[in-house]
Amino acid sequence: MKFDSPATTNPIDQLNVVGKPLDRIDGPLKVSGRATYAYEWHDPAIKPAYGVIIHATIPKGRIRRMDASAASRAPGVLTVVTPESLPKLIGKLEKGKFNTATLMGGPEIDHYHQAIGLVVATSFEAARAAANLVTIEYEEKPGNFALDKLIDAAGLPKDGEPDSGVGDFEAAFAQAPVTLDQRYKTPDHSHAMMEPHATLAVWDADGLTVWTSNQMVAWGRSDLAKTLNLPEEKVHLMSPFVGGGFGGKLFLRADVVMAALGAKATGQPVKVALARPMLMNNTTHRPATLQRIRIGATREGKITAIGHESWSGDLPGGGPELAVQQTRLLYAGENRMTRTRLAVLDLPEGNAMRAPGEAPGLMALEIAIDEMAEKLGMDPIAFRILNDTQVDPEKPERPFSQRAFAEVFRIGAERFGWDKRQARPGQLRDGRFLIGHGVAAAFRNNMVTKSGARVRLGKDGIVTVETDMTDIGTGSYTILAQTAAEMMGLPIERVAVHLGDSRFPVSAGSGGQWGANNSTAGVYAACVKLREAVAKRLGINAADVSFANGEVRSGGRALSLTEAAKDGELVAEDSIEYGDLDKTHQQSTFGAHFIEVGVDAATAEVRIRRMLAVCAAGRILNPKTARSQVIGAMTMGAGAALMEELAVDTRRGFFVNHDLATYEVPVHADIPHQEVIFLDETDPMSSPMKAKGVGELGLCGVAAAIANAVYNATGVRVRDYPVTLDKLI
Ligand code: MOS
Repeated sequence: MKFDSPATTNPIDQLNVVGKPLDRIDGPLKVSGRATYAYEWHDPAIKPAYGVIIHATIPKGRIRRMDASAASRAPGVLTVVTPESLPKLIGKLEKGKFNTATLMGGPEIDHYHQAIGLVVATSFEAARAAANLVTIEYEEKPGNFALDKLIDAAGLPKDGEPDSGVGDFEAAFAQAPVTLDQRYKTPDHSHAMMEPHATLAVWDADGLTVWTSNQMVAWGRSDLAKTLNLPEEKVHLMSPFVGGGFGGKLFLRADVVMAALGAKATGQPVKVALARPMLMNNTTHRPATLQRIRIGATREGKITAIGHESWSGDLPGGGPELAVQQTRLLYAGENRMTRTRLAVLDLPEGNAMRAPGEAPGLMALEIAIDEMAEKLGMDPIAFRILNDTQVDPEKPERPFSQRAFAEVFRIGAERFGWDKRQARPGQLRDGRFLIGHGVAAAFRNNMVTKSGARVRLGKDGIVTVETDMTDIGTGSYTILAQTAAEMMGLPIERVAVHLGDSRFPVSAGSGGQWGANNSTAGVYAACVKLREAVAKRLGINAADVSFANGEVRSGGRALSLTEAAKDGELVAEDSIEYGDLDKTHQQSTFGAHFIEVGVDAATAEVRIRRMLAVCAAGRILNPKTARSQVIGAMTMGAGAALMEELAVDTRRGFFVNHDLATYEVPVHADIPHQEVIFLDETDPMSSPMKAKGVGELGLCGVAAAIANAVYNATGVRVRDYPVTLDKLI
């Protein structure tokens, strides 16, 4: 189905099932241990061996000598895969569309903890013990590990964002009566998802099957085939349950490639999990940024010049963190400039983490806006609303499809009690705590992308949905079931959903908060076809038919839906494909975050007291799962504000803190109170579902709102995340 004109009234608008706060249909499987995560795949026919990865302990250089003989002789060991055994085993690893060729390194070492071998044994313990017997001599080369030393060496990224400019930023900034010129720092972040990367790999006559934990099934399958030099049809990838991803599982990681190699070498199924301490340095992370923001405004608070520059680093051939993205779209202003610079860093690979670009970009921009409002003597909400824009500020002929920017602030301000905030810092106290209030805007784009599904109406009257979409804890199973139930006029109990299998139609996958809108629109398209098939089978006019309460109604007749399948299952398949509505209209999601903190007047310990998010993100398909997305994201924002930081050892070239004891994330005691309000809106430009996404919006802006609240409490402006107590005293 081609979606190229704004959605009008359609069956989804019935809202009998869609839009209801239903429980997750996969919840019982998860809480009873029957959800089959990659490492726990239960198939009595599969008796796996266990692989433990050998990883580099230098950041850059080459292997001079690797001795695996003692490991090979150790009890239980079946094989040791080394860079030397690779050519015979598979040839050389090819580069997929993404960075897969270096998932096994050696003899060259690209980064610390890069996989350079695999010990396969009959038990995990035997494999781990033997992995410690492998001795390696390296020839170490010097590398660059400190971003702040590379500002001048940083250049234009190879592909991606060119610099942007409108009007004459420098002149307008120089002439503006009120200006701000500040620098901000965000650190490297780890995805730190609950389920580490894990894979079970099996080779048979049909090729390679992997049960893995991956957000993007079709990308993974295609890249695995390319990397191992196999025809795509010889690769089968299963990822039905994913214990969190946050972007860290958008692409194949070493567990998949090494499990496939180990299984090939031993001729038996092999399981490989990345142990928690490997996640930080073996997989990807959100890159640190240095940012400079300049804003010029009239005395009345109208922005006349806005400039945002960002520096980040990555391995050779890598990409930048696009931290200036939102600044191109969020506020009005005639003279604009953004620049993105990339340095070569020999740390582990930087890549997408939840709201890549906007998350660190808004951490800086939304402090800058708060600072600017203070300079102008304006309320920070009034300053934001004054500089609202209903069109793309770089291309005024492009309106936003929806932009309830002012509204999220107005609703939030009333709900939060913003009028009780003291403009001057350090005025409120509750016992030993200084109390502060902060606000920030949330912004993230809505991306539309092709998504397919197959739906079946069985003889038993059950509708089954099949798509390679993933559920990374987000609620995909449930919203896809709701979509099919609404379209076919059934209660949700009569819909079954099967996901995460590369044999199913290719979906949008889970990333960039595009999953919910696109994958449900794909199921919508398939259901439109199934409805037509039902009408045809029943001999009724497809143009005059409605589906409700398990019945198909046409004219005065009402037939049971099950009737349509009594002579055999009906199957329909389709994809949603998009025209250029996302080019003629800027599609974005908006929000406002309100925070109250208490800062201990003696120790400077920061305690969050209240968090409120107001989100405008099109139709909310399931307020319960959407709320869970947003409160999880707000929690992640609290981590980014107050504790999360991969500490770089700039001499040894690696991230020092590599477990959850030292890479701190918020716990329940850090988050006493959260509230989420969704605006009641629909976006007819986004898809027939009229929905957008909230999974990343919920994170965007949170950290800045907290930093602004800390400033309001203490009068200390911290521009270098995380806002730890040493920076406040
Ligand atoms: Mo997201 S960082 O695109 O999973």
